[in-house]
Amino acid sequence: MKLSNQTGHHFCLIVNQRAKHSNMSSHDWHVDNNSNCQSVPQGALNQETVSPYRLYRFLTQLDDILLGNENDELRLAEIRVLVRNFLNESPWMMMQCPSPDPKRGWAVSKLYNDTDYPLTIQLVSWNPGMLSSIHNHGAWGLVAILDGEERNRFWQPQEVGEPMVQPQETILSPGDIVTFMPDAIHQVEALGDEPVISFNLYGETDYKARFKYNAKTSEASSF
Ligand SMILES: [Fe+2]
Repeated sequence: MKLSNQTGHHFCLIVNQRAKHSNMSSHDWHVDNNSNCQSVPQGALNQETVSPYRLYRFLTQLDDILLGNENDELRLAEIRVLVRNFLNESPWMMMQCPSPDPKRGWAVSKLYNDTDYPLTIQLVSWNPGMLSSIHNHGAWGLVAILDGEERNRFWQPQEVGEPMVQPQETILSPGDIVTFMPDAIHQVEALGDEPVISFNLYGETDYKARFKYNAKTSEASSF
């Protein structure tokens, strides 16, 4: 079932997706290297997408975007459109999503893996009430919400010893896409009473630049 409205596009969702989301508009957000989150316009979708839109087609088009541009801001603008197109045409996606592990409260399903493949593409589910560390990713990233709601808090470190500043937060709903620059720092909380399910895509991680942070002291440690 494809849900859509006049103001935006929802992802293609299987029939048991809750109707409560059908009246909600979807938004694109971008978080820069200073953790400033801004609403950004949605690019025009490709009306001639081949259906079904296979994962290998998506991955090839993603490679083309990355090869064609080395600027992560510009790449992410194109990747947001690519992902929205893909998810609108991929009803199989939700069926592949794992349920959260009862003990850990979350689960990850890698959608593609290959020798030396540098990107991370996965479905993630996690239970309401779970709260992540404050972290960056050391890579560009994209999260698209397929189900549930999550709060994203954005943080800025200060001098070591000083508390971090939290300039913004936003609540993401199904159909929303947020992209992150490598130094964007966030903290994610699963809201509501049902698991949050998301499609996550990350560039090649620079582990020397990937940190978690102490909110009270701005101290960074390897993550
Ligand atoms: Fe994250």
